[in-house]
Amino acid sequence: MPSRYDEVYRRSLADPQGYWAEAAEALDWDKRWDKVLDDSRPPFYRWFAGGKLNTCYNCLDRHVMNGDGDRVALIYDSPVTNTIKHFTYAELTREVAKLAGAIKAQGIDPGDRVLIYMPMVPEAAMAMLACARIGAIHSVVFGGFAPRELASRIDDAKPKLVLSASCGIEVHRVIAYKPLLDEGIATSTYKPAHCIVLQRPQAKAEMVPGRDLDWQETVAKAPPADCVSVAATDPLYILYTSGTTGNPKGIVRDNGGHAVALNWTMKYFYGMEPGQTFMAGSDVGWVVGHSYIVYGPLMYGLTSVLFEGKPVGTPDAGVYWRLVQDHKINAIFTAPTAFRAIRRDDPDGKLIQKYDRASLHTLFLAGERCDPPTIAWAEEKLKIPVIDHWWQTESGWVMAGNCVGLGRLPVKHGSVTKPVPGWDLHVLGTDGHDVKAGEIGAIAMKLPLAPGSSPTLWNADQRYIDAYLKEFPGYYATADAGYIDEDGYVFVMTRTDDVINVAGHRLSTGAMEEVVAAHEDVAECAVIGIADELKGQVPLGFIVLKAGTNTPQETVSKEVLALVRERIGAVASLKAALVVQRLPKTRSGKILRGTMRSIADGQDYKMPATIDDPVILDEITGHLKDAGLAKAVAK
Ligand code: COA
Ligand code: AMP
Repeated sequence: MPSRYDEVYRRSLADPQGYWAEAAEALDWDKRWDKVLDDSRPPFYRWFAGGKLNTCYNCLDRHVMNGDGDRVALIYDSPVTNTIKHFTYAELTREVAKLAGAIKAQGIDPGDRVLIYMPMVPEAAMAMLACARIGAIHSVVFGGFAPRELASRIDDAKPKLVLSASCGIEVHRVIAYKPLLDEGIATSTYKPAHCIVLQRPQAKAEMVPGRDLDWQETVAKAPPADCVSVAATDPLYILYTSGTTGNPKGIVRDNGGHAVALNWTMKYFYGMEPGQTFMAGSDVGWVVGHSYIVYGPLMYGLTSVLFEGKPVGTPDAGVYWRLVQDHKINAIFTAPTAFRAIRRDDPDGKLIQKYDRASLHTLFLAGERCDPPTIAWAEEKLKIPVIDHWWQTESGWVMAGNCVGLGRLPVKHGSVTKPVPGWDLHVLGTDGHDVKAGEIGAIAMKLPLAPGSSPTLWNADQRYIDAYLKEFPGYYATADAGYIDEDGYVFVMTRTDDVINVAGHRLSTGAMEEVVAAHEDVAECAVIGIADELKGQVPLGFIVLKAGTNTPQETVSKEVLALVRERIGAVASLKAALVVQRLPKTRSGKILRGTMRSIADGQDYKMPATIDDPVILDEITGHLKDAGLAKAVAK
């Protein structure tokens, strides 16, 4: 079909209020909004001010009321436990209402925070929906994060209650979550009153008397809870994400704008129809899991597949295609790293051919830059459109991509296609003006941002301004750099800050540096993200030892690696910690991380004019070569 993209995009910018008010009609509101966009307190904008609704009602009860109670809402497929379970909309509504009752019985009122630290089990999605049902604000913490990360989130969100499980399963390894949770609570200053713990048969959790409650027993005792009406501008959740320091940012998501935007994306971006089946191969701990395992698909009446497994190894690289065949999945959304892993294990696509994939019409990729060869391989092997799209935890949904539901535009490998309706995307130079087509600059969004984007940071309005709005007045700085070509196609190339993307996981090298610097023998350090064929990027540490240290270098390196895993989590494992004599710096003392990255990645670099001592770069190059990590050395 001819694409309606141009016309719809233009309208969304010319008349944003009219455009999004129309989109909001697709949902059930308890009270209509007074103002589509409240712009009375810039730079803080609020969508659907005065409106009231309930996100859980719109995801579940609404479909039951409309006669779709027997439609499957959620499929839990867990090769690691050999389990497949189906929940219809009616069943999921009942389960969520019971859990909401149990949460309420712990004294949780609307606006109270509940922390969720869970593996990929259906109870994790139920926990999020149950909080939404009673107006509690959930904060999901990714299961791969260590106790210290958990503690910093507990201290910031101050949850009265924690919902957790005894363990997660990583391929063939059982990871006991409860000791991690106990340690997190022991180290946090703020103490949650209770923890409701789901006992899984793979590992039994020790319960703390008086604080911990058994999930099954607590749910069985409580009366089901109804949906409460909340303001469209009330927070639905806080999701912490990596910034430039060890102090993560609490991204706030509202109820109204979020519901409208996600519902819109299912139809107009992902091109889905109610009743179809969608799978986001992510984790509920990431924004992709929030938006596209739980809220988006259910809001729109789809069947969502919650997969507890990995794209490879559970049992092999054919698992996605087995899932497509078994559950008649119509579209998959996953990170490019998953595809690189699949391609590595099944280069000829033999496993792809083994399964019936007739239902699968589109593959969506996001979470990190997708290298063109991976897209080309997926297109060739799957023979369906492969759509790259770009967004962030802050936006909550796609900012630039190819709107399949509006009629697909031709794909250009390496580009995420065009800005999506609602997002006024600019590429700015350091002077804050738009650069010419083809020129690299900072990607920024003109304010106000589209509905569903983070209106602020949790209890940190000023940090929101400092982090995103100060650099280019009137714009939100995405911290990504890239360019727009002559045809209006957007190319997202790199981050402009300390954030790196490791196997689709967003991590802060600044946070890692804080951990490395805490080692008693380390005088100074730098952590950079270097290119990795499978994971996109991996962190690499450089350490300078304190003068007079007696500990052998290899011991310090090993201890530093272990410290990062212990303090941040296994997902942040450093590729190596190289002991160097000095770090390359500018004369003003700024560490030249970008130059070190260029050396490791084999990219041309210019000798920085302000470098303190150029010889240090040769030393760094030597260390990288010795470790087999310098791909090429530029002059
Ligand atoms: N709980 C506990 N530990 C976890 C975890 C979790 N939820 N998720 C990952 N880990 C651990 C892993 O077990 C691994 O530990 P190890 O170093 O002791 O082996 C470590 O963290 C690194 O995990 P990961 O980055 O996932 O690498 P991997 O080599 O295990 O798997 C891929 C590689 C590509 C298969 C995997 O990264 C993947 O599926 N990526 C998809 C990305 C994704 O879903 N991104 C979400 C945003 S869209
Ligand atoms: P997260 O907040 O974890 O979703 O990470 C967001 C960051 O991941 C973005 O700011 C980008 O740096 C990167 N990213 C996400 N999707 C893409 C994409 N399709 N292309 C390039 N980079 C991407």
